[in-house]
Amino acid sequence: MNPLEELVASAQADFIAADDAAALENAKAKYLGKTGQITEQMKGLGKLDPEQKKIQGAVINGAKVRIEAALTARRDALADIVLQARLNAEAIDVTLPGRGRSMGGIHPVMRSWERVEEIFRSIGFDVADGPEIETDWTNFTALNSPENHPARSMQDTFYIDDKDATGKPLLLRTHTSPMQVRYARTHTPPIKVIAPGRTYRVDSDATHSPMFHQVEGLWIAEDISFADLKGVYLNFVKAFFETDDLQVRFRPSYFPFTEPSAEIDIAFGSGPLKGKWLEVSGAGQVHPTVVKNFGLDPEKFIGFAFGSGLERLTMLRYGINDLRLFYEGDLRFLKQFN
Ligand code: DAH
Repeated sequence: MNPLEELVASAQADFIAADDAAALENAKAKYLGKTGQITEQMKGLGKLDPEQKKIQGAVINGAKVRIEAALTARRDALADIVLQARLNAEAIDVTLPGRGRSMGGIHPVMRSWERVEEIFRSIGFDVADGPEIETDWTNFTALNSPENHPARSMQDTFYIDDKDATGKPLLLRTHTSPMQVRYARTHTPPIKVIAPGRTYRVDSDATHSPMFHQVEGLWIAEDISFADLKGVYLNFVKAFFETDDLQVRFRPSYFPFTEPSAEIDIAFGSGPLKGKWLEVSGAGQVHPTVVKNFGLDPEKFIGFAFGSGLERLTMLRYGINDLRLFYEGDLRFLKQFN
């Protein structure tokens, strides 16, 4: 092989060996740079006579053209490799799950709250809302549990530092029953209302949470009886649990604000809870003293009240057995209801 052929072959090999643009430019300098080997050959032409110069010049130029072609080919190849690597890195995997925002959902207890409102509105009940910080009078006294009455200790109360106008400490309402008083004192009979909301007691285990939800019901007019309570409540649970195959029973009980008082139990005719009596609500005929505290004449006005636990209704509806699941914020649990 003549030296120029060798030079071309060596350039081609160097270019192929260069595995990035910087290495290739270094290799290029070795042949085509100011002091590169081809450049040196060109410089050498000066010493030759014109005829020789012409022939040798054409030969060197031929070699230079081939070296340049090899350089261009390698440049293109390297650019391709870089592009390919980038495309690979940026490739979109269409099989990956989308990154869309996930939807929020309604908490199961809130779902019950909404259902209860809807059902009672459909039979003409108003829906009222009231304060969670209550006075001693509204939460207890007006509801016929006088000072030091043992009934008060039925409910362990969270008191707060602030006091009401009479100097008594304010408290977190232990039930929604004070809403009976607030509503009745600001409306005229017939009074037909439910008041769902948060309630608080010093209590915490598998079946008790310090914060829980109740819905209070009150219907006061001149002729509202226990039969109306039974009809209304049966209608309610049938709608709530979406079944007609259900019984309601009243079990004698005691509450200071009702006389007589009852616990309402229900029993499903089918399903996993079939045949079991399940307690769902306290209820009763509103006590004459309470009617008086409503600002009404107990000789003229009569009616019923009930107070049901929203967590309890929700647990029965979905077959949940631990109350704490509602408050742990575990999405694996909560997602099942949306
Ligand atoms: N307030 C009662 C409680 O929290 C529940 C209750 C019982 C409400 C009887 C009522 C009622 O309106 O008539 O335990």
